[in-house]
Amino acid sequence: MSGMAERYGPWALIAGASEGTGAEFARQLAAEGLNLILIARREGPLTALAEELRAGGIEVVTACIDLAAGDAVTRLADSAGSREVGLMVFNAGADPNGVGFLDGDIAAWSDLATRNCLAVMGACHHFGRQMRARGRGGLLVCGSGVCYGGIPGIGVYGATKAFDLNLMESLWAELKPVGIDVLYLVMGRTDTPAHRAVTEKQGRVWEPETMASAADVARLGLERLPHGPIQNWGLADDEAGWAVISAADRRKRIEAIAASSSFAKKG
Ligand SMILES: NC(=O)c1ccc[n+]([C@@H]2O[C@H](COP(=O)([O-])OP(=O)(O)OC[C@H]3O[C@@H](n4cnc5c(N)ncnc54)[C@H](OP(=O)(O)O)[C@@H]3O)[C@@H](O)[C@H]2O)c1
Repeated sequence: MSGMAERYGPWALIAGASEGTGAEFARQLAAEGLNLILIARREGPLTALAEELRAGGIEVVTACIDLAAGDAVTRLADSAGSREVGLMVFNAGADPNGVGFLDGDIAAWSDLATRNCLAVMGACHHFGRQMRARGRGGLLVCGSGVCYGGIPGIGVYGATKAFDLNLMESLWAELKPVGIDVLYLVMGRTDTPAHRAVTEKQGRVWEPETMASAADVARLGLERLPHGPIQNWGLADDEAGWAVISAADRRKRIEAIAASSSFAKKG
């Protein structure tokens, strides 16, 4: 991962950074010398992580923001201020509800859609524009295998992840020519505190030994950032697995569409 700071620095913003995969992105980017803006709701874990990372000699800023709130994107932009954000990682995105569609409150489903769709879209737009002006940068959004098709019990979650898949594939084709790397990191079951909490809430057995480690997932995401638009956890680039079509085939598909589209001709 050498050259990360030159390619994606001097600042990276991580939305959903206080624990799990988000905290691992932070640790790995700090080790590469990037300064960090860390976002989550809980102040305690954010402050502790910031102190840990500052000891390595980088600058760290934290902001407690609810990404499901209507003002989330404005507050994300404010947290960065005039700092040059060369990488935006949107990690927050799990479904904390653990119930079927009709058993959940509509307000909870609205929050999930706001955080996973509107905040992701707004953050990509805000930071993407700044990156385009500089001619370099990276946008990395954490996804889930449910983006490829509905699964009972996680309908709204899956729908938001399908939204993100479509958005990120399109942005990859639009923004690659202007120097911005775009990756949708399609994760499988991963050992994170949030995943553990919802598993236990549902009365299911917690089996972390069957799951990916958050550190390995974050490492893969950063390694594959220049090779979007998607990376499926546990699958080679040309392997479809549960994804129906492979990452390589999806890349070819969107490249072919982009090459013949009026957008490409305009650009
Ligand atoms: N873990 C898995 O098995 C798995 C599988 C497939 C995909 N994924 C994807 O991986 C990503 C991370 O999942 P995760 O299991 O770590 O759970 P998560 O609930 O997305 O938590 C990750 C981070 O996001 C923050 N966060 C959550 N909701 C937030 C909100 N409304 N506003 C601000 N920050 C918020 C959390 O901190 P605070 O609580 O302090 O806000 C935490 O730091 C998600 O996009 C998820 O869809 C996970």
